[in-house]
Amino acid sequence: MNNEPLLNIGIKAARKAGNFLIRSIDKLKNIKVLEKSTNDFVSIIDQETEKIIKDVVLNAYPEHVFLGEEFGISTNNSKSEFKWIVDPIDGTTNFLHGISHFCISIAVTKNDKTVASIIYNPYDNLLFTSYSGKGSYCNDRRIRVSTRQNLMNCLIGTGLPFRENDKIDAYLETTKFLMLNTSGLRRSGSAALDLADVARGIIDGAWYYGLKIWDVAAGFHLIQEAGGIISNFEGDNNFDQECNIVVGNPYIHAKLLSCINSQKIQYQ
Ligand code: IPD
Ligand code: CA
Ligand code: CA
Repeated sequence: MNNEPLLNIGIKAARKAGNFLIRSIDKLKNIKVLEKSTNDFVSIIDQETEKIIKDVVLNAYPEHVFLGEEFGISTNNSKSEFKWIVDPIDGTTNFLHGISHFCISIAVTKNDKTVASIIYNPYDNLLFTSYSGKGSYCNDRRIRVSTRQNLMNCLIGTGLPFRENDKIDAYLETTKFLMLNTSGLRRSGSAALDLADVARGIIDGAWYYGLKIWDVAAGFHLIQEAGGIISNFEGDNNFDQECNIVVGNPYIHAKLLSCINSQKIQYQ
């Protein structure tokens, strides 16, 4: 599995960045935190982590395009068909509070289709990888989505909205339905790790609104390579700047999508 050069470079970058994050935990009290917008935090550590990943990637592939959450896109004037989509810390609020649930998320696309992905939780040493046509793995063990079909037996992941407050009523309608019709909801604080948990079948599905492409690109690929389904709220795979997402094993994806589309208050 790991003799794919793109994956090897992604793993090298993720591990180097992960070591930096673990070393940074002790310095959290002295870290300057900026609020990008209400409740959307970024620290110098997010930025340094992105630089570490970018250095490793562009050292190996100077002609590739690199899109990171913190510094945006850099193309080196090339028109490479390869693009790296990177969230240096997914779960920044967890990280800044000393909660160990955060990760590095890296997707590699070729002509806008993801071919490889890496999600790394350095605290728990969980390395998720996928490569097109070769499946998804967690620490080198093959993973698959769950097989549960009955929503009542399922755990569903989500993120509590903190932007776009106009959609809160629609969100609460979905939440109420799922509170009453599942085993429970989980809000972990890291969308990318929720997607990885869907891919390894420890949760059965998830829905989120208002995510960005760097939150989801790697996790989507992990889920697809693990036999799961990803879509937007319309049920197709066109994602804009804001990604409204429904993911799950094939049975639960269909049930979540139908719940979202049949509710009284729509997400508009
Ligand atoms: C956030 C996390 C969180 C989700 C937010 C994201 P960040 O990413 O994935 O779980 O609810 O919408 O922005 O800011 O930690 O990279
Ligand atoms: Ca993120
Ligand atoms: Ca981030």
